[in-house]
Amino acid sequence: MPLGISRSSLIETELKAMYQVSHVLSCSLDPGEILRGVLQELHEHAGMERGMVSLLDPGSGELSIGAVHTGDPVRAAAVRYRAGEGITGAILKMGKTVVVERIADEPRFLDRLGIYDAALPFIGVPIRVGDGTPVGVLAAQPHTGNDGLLSERAQFMEMVANLIAQNVRLSWQVEREHRALTDERDRLRREVRGNHGFDSIVGRAPVMRRVFEQVRRVAKWNTTVLLRGESGTGKELIANTIHYNSLRAKRSFIKLNCAALPDNLLESELFGHEKGAFTGAISQRKGRFGQADGGSLFLDEIGETSPRFQAKLLRVLQEGEFERVGGAKTLKTDVRIIAATNCDLEAAVEAGDFREDLYYRLNVMPIFMPPLRKRTEDIPDIARFLVAKIAKQQGRPLKIVDSAIRILVRHAWPGNVRELENLLERAAIMSAEGVIDRDVIALSGLEDKIAPNGFTAQPAMLDLQNPDVDERERIISALEQAGWVQAKAARLLAMTPRQISYRIKTMKIKIRRI
Ligand SMILES: Nc1ncnc2c1ncn2[C@@H]1O[C@H](COP(=O)(O)OP(=O)(O)OP(=O)(O)O)[C@@H](O)[C@H]1O
Ligand SMILES: [Mg+2]
Repeated sequence: MPLGISRSSLIETELKAMYQVSHVLSCSLDPGEILRGVLQELHEHAGMERGMVSLLDPGSGELSIGAVHTGDPVRAAAVRYRAGEGITGAILKMGKTVVVERIADEPRFLDRLGIYDAALPFIGVPIRVGDGTPVGVLAAQPHTGNDGLLSERAQFMEMVANLIAQNVRLSWQVEREHRALTDERDRLRREVRGNHGFDSIVGRAPVMRRVFEQVRRVAKWNTTVLLRGESGTGKELIANTIHYNSLRAKRSFIKLNCAALPDNLLESELFGHEKGAFTGAISQRKGRFGQADGGSLFLDEIGETSPRFQAKLLRVLQEGEFERVGGAKTLKTDVRIIAATNCDLEAAVEAGDFREDLYYRLNVMPIFMPPLRKRTEDIPDIARFLVAKIAKQQGRPLKIVDSAIRILVRHAWPGNVRELENLLERAAIMSAEGVIDRDVIALSGLEDKIAPNGFTAQPAMLDLQNPDVDERERIISALEQAGWVQAKAARLLAMTPRQISYRIKTMKIKIRRI
């Protein structure tokens, strides 16, 4: 730029420079790149050499260098200013523009960066956000101080600083929101993992311990797992546990119930489809295999699929390749399969309903979920666990007492844990006070269809005379121990027959023999 230009030609060049600056500001999302670009434009189009932008670090209250422009490389990041320190710190503290004709004459000048030319003027302006708070400093050296236009140049720098401020504010906001989102994502991940940890599966019976051991061992490998077991035994629960304890835990866990869809829909659901592949395929769709890439796919009720579908599935399992419905392109996928069924797959293979090759491909690591009637000793723990879960869902305290549990333990539970969970949910609704006792269990309909499993829980050895134990529970327990002979129960409780019969009446204890 020529020396000694007129005021009007300065305005013209600055207008051009401003246009370039605004362009830089809208072109990138990287704050460092933007600020370097702005300083570069100021140099090239507005005659402002040797510039620097420093920004406030809200955490420390110090200024750090956002960008420097000299032409020579500078170790910018290492330099920091406290508010009030040096000329840059002073501009931040006062929130005022500083114009100096010769920087060497300015006593506050520290030259920490060593970028300034001592003989040139200096203009430093605060960068302010909405409420006027200074959040940084824009500084540069006009290439001359002899044209009497320093205050015009300072005004121009203030305008540029305002534009930068918008950008700083936005990038802070984006960073804050991004941090909030990643925190939330990490919290949710921890929560999901917590919900699917081993703590969420209750069981101490030896058959369940074996299942836990198998799950623990298999989780960390990519092996295909086949979960077998009656309805309601916890197959889906185990599938979740395997995924969330595997190396794929941070990736997607996608579920598909193969029995829920007719064959053609199942295929497009699993593999996706191209636009126009069939009537209603108005756009391309990814399919569950695509969604689960890198993660795990749970194929529930795998025994309910057709031979045609089984053939397609076999190919993905063997080659890791598939095509979308109506598509010619072969897609690759890296998915861990966890399948489940309550069918007798061996019989289905024998009958020709299930492909033998697929059976062997899936059956790499079978895990058998034992029915609840084979682990009756777990019923009390599972019942208490489920009551706590229901209490959390209903947002109120709930308690199940021992007399109720003793009834539950005698039932055969053909619907397994799911049936138990449904019954307890009904019982919880029936219980106004939040206490699930034997009467509430009776109300929820178990007694009508009780199918004894031959297992009778011994009444807990309550200290029948202990006044801290709920009296109604003590009386029920004594009655159970006495085979419901009231006189005998009265003796156990050190009561007279009259006293016990009075209490049975007032406490509305129904005499029954279950
Ligand atoms: N051992 C267990 N501890 C705690 N909760 C369990 C246990 N087993 C099953 N459940 C709970 O019982 C319910 C049924 O389990 P799940 O859906 O996993 O069974 P499933 O075998 O997939 O049944 P289906 O074949 O009917 O689909 C779920 O709410 C699950 O959380
Ligand atoms: Mg299931």
